[in-house]
Order: sequence, then C-alpha cells, then structure tokens
Amino acid sequence: MPPPQAPSSSARFASGAFGAGSQLALDGGPKTVRESMPRLVRWGEPEGQRLNALIEQDSLFYWKGPQTALLIEQFRKVCPLLHVMSCSSGTAAIHIAVAAAGIGPGDEVITTPITDIGTVIGVLYQQAVPVFADLEPDTYNLDPADVERRITARTRAIIAVHLAGNPCDMRALTSLAQKHRLVLIEDCAQAWGARYRGKPVGKFGDIACFSLQNSKQVTCGDGGVVASSHGQYGPLLQRYGDKGFDRLAAGGLFDAFATNYRMSEPQAAVAAAQLARVEPIAAKRAVLGNLLTEKIAGGPGIEPHRVHHEDRSTYWFYMFRVRPGALGCDRTRFVEAIAAEGVAAAAGYIPVPLYGVPQARFLCRTMASKGPGAYVDGLHESVVSQGRGDPGNWCARRRARGDERRVHRRCRRGDLQGRAPLRRLGSLPFHGRSK
Ligand SMILES: Cc1ncc(COP(=O)(O)O)c(C=O)c1O
Repeated sequence: MPPPQAPSSSARFASGAFGAGSQLALDGGPKTVRESMPRLVRWGEPEGQRLNALIEQDSLFYWKGPQTALLIEQFRKVCPLLHVMSCSSGTAAIHIAVAAAGIGPGDEVITTPITDIGTVIGVLYQQAVPVFADLEPDTYNLDPADVERRITARTRAIIAVHLAGNPCDMRALTSLAQKHRLVLIEDCAQAWGARYRGKPVGKFGDIACFSLQNSKQVTCGDGGVVASSHGQYGPLLQRYGDKGFDRLAAGGLFDAFATNYRMSEPQAAVAAAQLARVEPIAAKRAVLGNLLTEKIAGGPGIEPHRVHHEDRSTYWFYMFRVRPGALGCDRTRFVEAIAAEGVAAAAGYIPVPLYGVPQARFLCRTMASKGPGAYVDGLHESVVSQGRGDPGNWCARRRARGDERRVHRRCRRGDLQGRAPLRRLGSLPFHGRSK
C-alpha cells in the first residue's frame, strides 16, 4: 500500500514538530532555522607546523619518514594496535586487510549492503564474493543472527561496518567469528573516536580499517590507516600496502602480489596533526547526536538512531526512521519540509544497497532469502539522514526494491554466483588462505 501523501495536511506534522499553530516553511511560513551554518574550521596552526617541518626533509617517502612515524604514534593514542600501516584511502585499508587475511578467489566475506562501496572493492579485487547480511532495524548495523545464517563452508571473513560512527554489536560478532574461525575486519571509516563498551572501535576484530577522506571526522584530503595486533595478519599489512615489498626483510623484494597504496609524507603530516583532534571532535559529535535523539524521541512517526547506552557514536551523520502512517506524510515530503525549514537532511543514505550497484551486482551473492519487508528494504523506504554535506548526494531512489527482485530472480537461476569470472581468473598468485 503506498504511504499516505501530505496535502495541506502538512499542518499535521507542523503541530507536532514545529510547534502548535505554526505554518511550515513549505506552506509559506517562516523558516525555523534562519541563520546559516558557520564555516567549519578544520585545520590551522598544528597542521601548518607539521607542513613547515616537512620542508626541511630530504625525502617525502613514507618509509622511515618522520611525519609517517608521528602519524603512527598519534594513531596508537586513538586506537592502540601493534602494526599500523598508513595508506592512500579507506578503500585501500580494507583491500590491504582482506589481502593480508589471505582472502582469495571464491572466498565469501559477509558484510552489510548499506555502506560505501569502498567496503567491498578490496573483496572484489581479491576475486572473493561479498555476501550481504541484513541489518538491525534501529542501528542499521549488521544483525549478528542474520550474519550467522549466511555462513557457509566458503565463508572466510566478516567486515563489520560501524555505520555513521555507531559501534556494531562487537560482542556477538567476535564470538561468531571465533566460533566459525572467521577473520573479523572492522571498517571504522566513519567511526573515528567511537567506543564500544568504553573501548575504541578497531580494538575488537583482527584488523581495523580507517578512512582519512575529506568528509571524515579527521582528514588529510584522502588517506587511510590499517592496523592490527594479530600475530599472523599484522606483520603483513605493510607489504600489502607497498607492492608486496617487505621493507624489514633482508633482501627480499615483492614477496606478495599487491598494489601500491602508500601514503606520502605531506598527507601524513596533515593526518598526524588531525589525529590529535580526534578526542574533542568525537566528544562533541557524541554530545550533539545524543541531544538530537533526546529532542526528537517521542515525536509521532519518528524513530531515532539507537546507540547502546554504554557506547559512544561519533555520528558521522545522524539517521532516523520515519513511519509515514503516524507522521501523516511520506519520507520524500518530510525531507522536503525539513529542508525548507533550513535543516540539512536527505532521504536515505546510499541511493541503492550495494547489491543493486550495477558494477558490483554480477560478482555478488545477495540477500537471496529476503523478500520485501526485510530491514534493509525498509531502510530504503523510511530512513532520513541528517547532518552531512551535499544533500544532492542523498536523494531517495525507489529503484532499490525493483533491483532486489531482479537480483533474487537471477540468484534463483544461479547466475549471480560470480563463479564464471572467478574460474577464469582463479589461477592468479594470491596469498595463502587463512584456514
Ligand atoms: C564505511 C566506509 N567504508 C569504506 C570507505 C572508503 O573510504 P575512502 O573513501 O577513504 O576510500 C568509506 C568512505 O566513505 C566508508 O564510509
């Protein structure tokens, strides 16, 4: 049944959300938020100092570079892990992690379909198969019970994405990984400064991956960090980001098949200074996000972003679900209304779940057993995201459900397993399996 539209009954949520009797900006009333957002000051003296220090250097290469050394030192203050490799992006960090974990052709990696495509690019480049699990309805993170249902004899790893900076259920996911002897990779790209039960995210899995891309809580324009204290995978991170070159080994060149994901010293200089800002930025975002929850909770037809009371979300953005029936209008209309009030908001997060992205579709197995009404599907009907930059990125795309049906059909026919290209390419040299 289509959700009810709002004719002039926008007055109905006006009375709830914007104060009794007030007229919506959409209907010609005054805007609720009149002042424009202040310009964000994201870097200054500390970053300048590091860049000045750099001018004195003879080399801008990462290996033994002082800026990279400082970046690693600062990173360990945020997330104390033994082996730390700086790299060119969050996507690179995840590819390095997947390769170091020995994931190769035909292996399956379970993750979420509601994430940046950078979560699965490395999986696909290793000729492995992303398998998408369903999400919890109010955190939008992996549902551990559904992850377990998707484990097969081919499953090698889980990538847990702390979506929007809200920690996943790491207790359940770590015990699943242990039980089934799977590698647990944490995608912390959106989660700088987030804490699960008081400890930094990245400390729970086998390998942690972070992004320093421009929109993240801290940045150097583009960059990433991959880190691990795991005895087997940790020492491999450096070479998988550096063309397979183990720079600590005597003599040996290119002893693994890998690409060049190195980060140079100028980026490391900015990143090192930025990492000193993680704690105040994270603390402030947590307070403001929680305040928003407090303010919108109990509103008719609005379900806030759930964060466990012992965790710290750093709200890379804020999500909430709308129930059109109770709200009196559908999501599109609601987003138009709050945007007209001067609030940066958009319908949904990514336009289609990853299994609907045409370039990835033919290599992905999908939520084959899920029909419409699954949380992920519902997510695309009702979630509003708030607080990130360009709202143009965030428009609702109703194609999601149709795409999923098509994918189901193809799955039933067995032609979405990605096996043909894997068989063709399966003889490339890859690092040995983890189990
Ligand atoms: C959850 C997640 N994983 C991976 C990435 C990829 O990071 P990058 O853009 O630095 O390659 C992003 C980027 O937004 C992300 O949000």
